[in-house]
Order: sequence, then structure tokens, then C-alpha cells
Amino acid sequence: MRDVADISPALLAWYDRNARVLPWRTGPADHAKGLRTAPYRVWLSEVMLQQTTVAAVRDYFRAFTTRWPTVTDLAQAEDGDVMAAWAGLGYYARARNLLKCARVVAFELGGEFPQTARELQALPGIGPYTAAAIASIAFDEPATVVDGNVERVISRVFALTDPLPGTRPEIARLAGLVTPTHRAGDHAQAMMDLGATICTPRNPVCALCPLIEICEGHAQGIAASLPVKAPKKVKPTRLGHAYVLTGPSGEVLVERRPDRGLLGGTLGFPTSDWAETLPAFAPPVTADWTQAPTDVRHTFTHFHLVLTVHRATGHMEGMLGDNAFSPEDLPTLMRKVWEAAQTAPAK
Ligand code: ADE
Repeated sequence: MRDVADISPALLAWYDRNARVLPWRTGPADHAKGLRTAPYRVWLSEVMLQQTTVAAVRDYFRAFTTRWPTVTDLAQAEDGDVMAAWAGLGYYARARNLLKCARVVAFELGGEFPQTARELQALPGIGPYTAAAIASIAFDEPATVVDGNVERVISRVFALTDPLPGTRPEIARLAGLVTPTHRAGDHAQAMMDLGATICTPRNPVCALCPLIEICEGHAQGIAASLPVKAPKKVKPTRLGHAYVLTGPSGEVLVERRPDRGLLGGTLGFPTSDWAETLPAFAPPVTADWTQAPTDVRHTFTHFHLVLTVHRATGHMEGMLGDNAFSPEDLPTLMRKVWEAAQTAPAK
């Protein structure tokens, strides 16, 4: 009979030989010597990893930690610099919360992160996942970390055939059951590495899996089909106009969006509202506007957006000089708008 108590030892033995080398990770050999990753680096990497892949995060993580080596350095940064450095990672509320959290830690907690998941969760932008990750990886608290990888591994090992998200509470319970009291951080990272490299969403490589003898999903021949997901809702499409006004010496009209809401606090071109039917064409200034040949398409969490891009040359108060404007500092949507505007027929 399979024994739940066998899971973590098998996983940790595999991790000791196969842990990925990551810039924010203290590998298992160094961990055994008592070394730990600074909580600042665990926190920063985990927040970034909620946005995108390990491959994409490497460069952002290096850039952030080179420029802001400690939480206090980050806390003292200009908001605009942090938003620009975050550009391309998406979901800008996270970047704003990142700064808020850094400032609480630096200015109210003396620059030290709290050491328990419970206290960490009280900080801005730190939810149960990030709190458990920091507590277990930086401080060895036996907190249970549940991300998409862990959900998949647990669903397969225990052959959970009911659909997500309904199975989340059961997954959390089972993930807790297999979390060891020692090396909880290594266990969490091992689950993630297993999910990323072997227990992958499609075509899992069960032949190489350290849990092959234990995995109920594998025994039943259904591992690859798990977890079952409830059908997704169809995303609606919203429409809008974007206006790219450039001046005679390369200056560009950009505005900072209000802190609240989508892309909050980021720099971009003026747009109309985004609505189910195309709003009226109402540019920020009267000029000889031409429409770019291609629309911009971008998908947010809850809807698709199609922007019609208009371009003109002209002047307006508050335009950003050529040397102060860099499309790399814009969120991806606005970079696409800029690209589309470049292909507009010259006026
Ligand atoms: N994905 C998110 N956090 C991770 C971590 N700490 N190790 C590996 N993959 C991850």
C-alpha cells in the first residue's frame, strides 16, 4: 500500500540531485550547511514568478537586485523607476504593492521581514502563497506552499478526478499532509521543480519521476489528464481608441494612469474608455489624425482588448522629450500601441 509518509523523502532525495540552479535559490547542499536566501530575495522572486516563467524572471530579478540590493534600497526608490523596471512583467498592481510592502518592511519594521507566514500575510500584496513560500524557504517554517505546480502534482499523486477549482481545499489539505517539518522550503521548491520539469501539464515524464511508485494517477493510467479543470468562461472583448501624438523634435504625449485600476500607475498613451462597443473618436487635441493600419490586440485576465491606434504630429503641454521617452519603460499594451503607431503611413 502506498504511504503518504514516503512522498517527501523520495521528493527531497530527487531534489538533492536535480534541483534547478536559480539566481534566487540556495541549493540543497548550501541549505544543508545552514545557508539561507535572504527573505528579500525570496519575496521578490516569488512575486515576480507569479507573473511569468522562471526564464523570463531571471533577467528582471538580476536587474532589480543589482539596482536595489536590499529591501531598504527598494523602499527608497522612486515609484516611476520601479514601475519602469517592472514594465513587461504585467499586472501592475503587484508592482505597486511591491513598493508598499518594501516601505512597510523598511520604515516600520526596521528593514527586517517577519519570520512567520501568519505575520508575512499581513503585509501589502503578500497572500497565502507568497507568505508560505517566504516562511518556508527563508525561515524553515513548515508552511505549506500551494501553487499551480503543487496543485498538479498533488492531483496526480492522489488521483483527484473532481475538477478544479472545487478541489482546492482538498489539495491544500493533502499538500499539508505531505509537507515535512524539516526542510519544508526545500520540499516546496522540490514540488515546484518536479511540476516544472517532470510532472508537466502535458506529456509528463513519469519514467523519470521519483514518485512513480507512489503516484495513484500513474497507477490508474490517468496522470496526464489531471488535474481536471472546470470549463473556462469565455472572455468578453472590449474596444477603444489610443492616441499617439508626437512633436516635431520627437517629443511624445504620455500620461500616467491613475493608481487604481488596470495598468494603474503606469505610463502610456491617452486612450478612450474600453467598452463593449467602440467609443467615440475623441482625441486629446485637435490635429490631423490618421489611423494605423493595424489594431492592437491584448489580453488581460478578464477580457480581450482591441485598440484602434491613431497617430498625429502636434504639440501639447506636458509632452515628454525625446530623451525622456523610452518605449521599454511602458507596459506591454502600450509598447504594442507604440509599435502600431510606427507603421502608420507618414503624414
Ligand atoms: N516557481 C515559483 N517559485 C519557485 C521557486 N521558489 N522555485 C522554483 N520554481 C518556482
